[in-house]
Amino acid sequence: MKWWQKGIIYEIYPKSFYDSNGDGIGDLPGIVTKLPYLKELGVDAIWLTPIYLSPQVDNGYDVADYRKVDPMFGSNHDLERLIEQAHKNGLKIILDMVANHTSDQCVWFKESKKSRNNYFSDFYIWRDPKPDGSAPNNWAASFGGSAWTYVPERRQYYLHYYAAQQPDLNWENPLVRQYVFDAMRYWKAQGVDGWRLDVITQISKDLSFKDVKGLPGQKYVPLKNTSGPHMHQFIHELNQQVLSPFEMMSVGEAPNSSIDEILKLTAPEREELDMAFSFEHMRIDKAAGKHGEIAVKKPDFKQLKDVLSKMQTELADKAWNALYFENHDRSRIPSRWGNDKEYRYESATAFATILHGLCGTPFIFQGEEIGMTNPTYSVDEYEDIDLKNKYQEQVEEKHLLTTEEFLNIEHKIARDNGRTPMQWDTSPNAGFTQGKPWYKVNPDYKQINVKVDIASKKSIFKYYQKLIALRHQEDILTEGKYQEMMPEDKNIFAYYRVLENKRWLVVVNMTDRQIESDQVKDLIKDYRSVILHNYKSKEISATLAPYEAYIVQK
Ligand code: NOJ
Repeated sequence: MKWWQKGIIYEIYPKSFYDSNGDGIGDLPGIVTKLPYLKELGVDAIWLTPIYLSPQVDNGYDVADYRKVDPMFGSNHDLERLIEQAHKNGLKIILDMVANHTSDQCVWFKESKKSRNNYFSDFYIWRDPKPDGSAPNNWAASFGGSAWTYVPERRQYYLHYYAAQQPDLNWENPLVRQYVFDAMRYWKAQGVDGWRLDVITQISKDLSFKDVKGLPGQKYVPLKNTSGPHMHQFIHELNQQVLSPFEMMSVGEAPNSSIDEILKLTAPEREELDMAFSFEHMRIDKAAGKHGEIAVKKPDFKQLKDVLSKMQTELADKAWNALYFENHDRSRIPSRWGNDKEYRYESATAFATILHGLCGTPFIFQGEEIGMTNPTYSVDEYEDIDLKNKYQEQVEEKHLLTTEEFLNIEHKIARDNGRTPMQWDTSPNAGFTQGKPWYKVNPDYKQINVKVDIASKKSIFKYYQKLIALRHQEDILTEGKYQEMMPEDKNIFAYYRVLENKRWLVVVNMTDRQIESDQVKDLIKDYRSVILHNYKSKEISATLAPYEAYIVQK
């Protein structure tokens, strides 16, 4: 077993984690201060979202210099210190490599846009306008509008899958690949242990650049822009040039990828990535707006079971899963799928039990371990460029949604839901900063914070501690076979993990209702002992309380 197969990885969004100098922005020395907290939780590694120099158009996913820490987070020296201190505490450090695109403030782009024949000209994807002067095709950018922006100096358009300030790199150019690989080697030399690879499945483009068919009246059309023709070749090269020789862990972000594709990316013999974040299970509450506008629906838990189970079985013995429900692009699970009012503890621990009982490496997003919730902000209280652009396009320009409808949806799924400052205690600004926080603290911080949670009889943090400790101690959680039970049930997630003659049963009620189930009755018959239970004083039984979750040994 590799360390990351036995380990649990904790994601930190540095801007919102802990501010050590009172400027309102979380920073690297702040993370050092909180290392004992992470040790206490028991995780094995920290993944930091981008800390490089950046104009922060997309919160650091627009990198201006891959080798320099942004002064708002501290200095390169602070990062070295964090790595050193983390290692002393037995924690590994994973950085985020944003290699599909850079910031438009990156010197490579500044040079590239100057002319068609300089050293950096081909570092990005430039195309001539159509004869009428319009963009080369009708592709939409992820954050709204066209995926192309015109630059008069070159009389050409450049491609950007995200904001116009995030030009896409041209991976077909071997120099680009060398520059990216070199930046990764640089951080290896500073002691970094691995990489989370941002939208790595988008690096190879469909070089025909044809228009795509959209909905009637749709000017710019979102395309399935993953798994381009050279994607596997580029990722294999990255593996051979950086990951394998320097023994760095890798987890790639893989939006849209099917299980087959995930398998290709992560099957060890193909020498690409160690793990990949699949997106399918996070779509169980997403709906399709008639005109392409954002839309949600009631979460379909049967679908959640189907997708997660399929992933478990298809990857078994062939590749390794990356398990997550929350991250900096997702909202808070108790608010999204559970109940963040009367059953916050129960629903947070129920979904945690599902995830941490599975085979793979669990990822915990800061605040998930204390059951942080989605705030219900007004439009001007959101920061995210994606949300702002969508509001402008879908509400203000096209009137596809009213402000109220828009907010009802975003209160469920906005990326900013997960980006509010970490809630440490009941002091002003939740103890996150002595200054004015860069982003509004969730007003529920007096009730929900680390200090209150740990002191509570129903501590989510302590439940996570147990889940983490179990994974470290019990090989059945890392090596045991997965077997889904009651696959037809829409409300109860039940599965076995089996290792040699040991058998654990996981049962979780995913609803806020009491459910009595004959099938559960059958399953728990002659269980031997309770491994974990989120209702302390209740007996294990076939009458499941709202969000009741248990693991029993059979
Ligand atoms: C995925 C990142 O997680 C997200 O935050 C970012 O906006 C996009 N990639 C673009 O880099």
